[in-house]
Amino acid sequence: MMLQRIVTDILLMSGIGVVLAFIMVIAQRWLSNYGEVNLNINSKRDMKVTGGNSLLATLSDSQIFIPSACGGRGSCGACKCKVIDGGGPLLPTERPLLTKAEQADSIRLACQVKVKSDINIQIPEDIFNIRRFNTVIEEIVDYTYDIKGIVFKLQNGETIDFKAGQYVQLETVPYAKVKQKVVRAYSISSKPELNDRIQLIIRLVPEGICTTWVHKFLKVGDKVSFTGPYGDFYLRDTDADILFVAGGSGKAPIKSMLEHLQEVGTKRKMTYFFGARTTKDLYLTDEFRVFEKHFDDFSYVPVLSHASPEENWDGKTGFVMPYFKDAIRDPKNTEAYLCGSPGMISAVTKSLIEYGLSEEKIYYDSFG
Ligand SMILES: Cc1cc2nc3c(=O)[nH]c(=O)nc-3n(C[C@H](O)[C@H](O)[C@H](O)COP(=O)(O)OP(=O)(O)OC[C@H]3O[C@@H](n4cnc5c(N)ncnc54)[C@H](O)[C@@H]3O)c2cc1C
Ligand code: FES
Repeated sequence: MMLQRIVTDILLMSGIGVVLAFIMVIAQRWLSNYGEVNLNINSKRDMKVTGGNSLLATLSDSQIFIPSACGGRGSCGACKCKVIDGGGPLLPTERPLLTKAEQADSIRLACQVKVKSDINIQIPEDIFNIRRFNTVIEEIVDYTYDIKGIVFKLQNGETIDFKAGQYVQLETVPYAKVKQKVVRAYSISSKPELNDRIQLIIRLVPEGICTTWVHKFLKVGDKVSFTGPYGDFYLRDTDADILFVAGGSGKAPIKSMLEHLQEVGTKRKMTYFFGARTTKDLYLTDEFRVFEKHFDDFSYVPVLSHASPEENWDGKTGFVMPYFKDAIRDPKNTEAYLCGSPGMISAVTKSLIEYGLSEEKIYYDSFG
């Protein structure tokens, strides 16, 4: 009798649970059915779009690609755009990435704003030049135990127009247990003059969705899409001396810049500090030594922080910062290009300002 009652109670509770879940699914479908809404861009383009998605996804569905380096996770701030009206109230997820001035100026994160009603936005005109490219993987090279160089050949005779230092956003496909497609930013490591293919240099992040796909599943011949080019981290066309500081896969945009300078020619004084842990993390060393021979005044300086005695490393050791002093001859006429983790960028920036560089001439891409 007792057992029968327990079974009946369990069945009753389960039944209620199923009914509640059903009601929630119906309610969610009904509540998020916003129908067709009007999207106005820069007070000139009017588009009819289906409501219910983020502004970022809605624009992407219309082939308008806003930078979104973190893939829409609300952590990079790259997707900032002005929402004049129709964006709803500012969300708690947006506040940490927006300054007070940006909040007052109606700047929002496109990945967080949901399109629910007619919406009126402003975006820079050059965003309309960003396109999606279909490619086939042409080459995969192991540079170190955790870094690969991958060449993507554009299809149908297409070419890409970018500045040395800019990045693309790679789109993964579902693989193994990963059911969702993700988007991640990668700096182009090949030169702009080679415009029918691009190379990316990708470091494996343990448990990382995109890098695991690239390192463990991607094969020569696979079809892959990316959008681009993005970013304002690009080589400035001046006569100023240059300091490059980038370790790991941060070498990618620096390689693009140096290959570009090799094409166009330069007399600029340039020094590249490549910070790494041990000799196992060094790669493309011979190629960068060739740059030393090619340019009038270029030095490649690898600096190892954790070299063991068995490695017989006779180069520079420790942090890169103390070595800047000898490379800076006129701080007011020196530009710096930094690439890597947010921690490295902020430590190096602080040090360069102490050496007298102007903050406006310190350009960086933070891979965080
Ligand atoms: C403008 C820009 C350019 C970039 N260019 C390059 C490039 O040229 N080459 C390159 O390899 N990467 C580059 N990145 C980093 C890249 O976009 C991804 O963040 C990185 O590859 C991890 O992606 P994932 O999907 O494998 O990891 P995710 O699935 O996103 O992350 C998995 C876990 O690892 C952590 N994590 C994320 N990124 C890192 C990291 N870099 N190091 C340590 N832990 C991390 C996350 O917090 C999370 O816990 C760039 C980033 C930006 C913003
Ligand atoms: S895409 Fe990164 S914060 Fe919006």
